[in-house]
Amino acid sequence: MKKIVLASIVALAASTALMATVNTAACAACHGKNFEKHALGKSRIVANLTHDEIEDALKGYKVGKGGSMKSIMKGQIGKYSDAEIEAFSKTIGKK
Ligand code: HEC
Repeated sequence: MKKIVLASIVALAASTALMATVNTAACAACHGKNFEKHALGKSRIVANLTHDEIEDALKGYKVGKGGSMKSIMKGQIGKYSDAEIEAFSKTIGKK
C-alpha cells in the first residue's frame, strides 16, 4: 500500500512538474538568464539552438559526448531522465 501511494505521488510530480524539474537557476551563472551567452566562453549560444539540437546535446552529455568541456555539463544534466530532458529542451532555444 505504502509503495503504491509513493508511486502515484512520484508519477503525479513527474507529470505536473515537467520543466520545473530542471532548475534553470543553476544554468544561468554560465549560460545567462535567457541562455544568451557562450557559457565559459565555450558553448554555443543555447538560445539560438533548436529544441532538437538542445535535446541532442544534453542527452549526449549524459552519455559522455560533447566538446572539450563536456564533463561540466555531465555534472549539470546527468541527474535528469531522458523524458525530463526532452520536455525541458522544448522550453528553451528557438522554435
Ligand atoms: C559551470 C558552467 C555551466 C553550467 C552551470 C551549465 N552549463 Fe551548459 N555548458 C557549459 C559549457 C562550458 C558548455 C560547452 C561544453 C562542451 O565543451 O561541449 C555547455 C554546453 C551546454 C549546451 C550545449 C551547447 C553547445 O555548445 O552545444 C546546452 C544545451 C547546455 N549547456 C545547457 C545547460 C543547462 C540546461 C544547464 C542547467 C541545468 C547548464 N547548461 C548549466 C557550462 C555550463
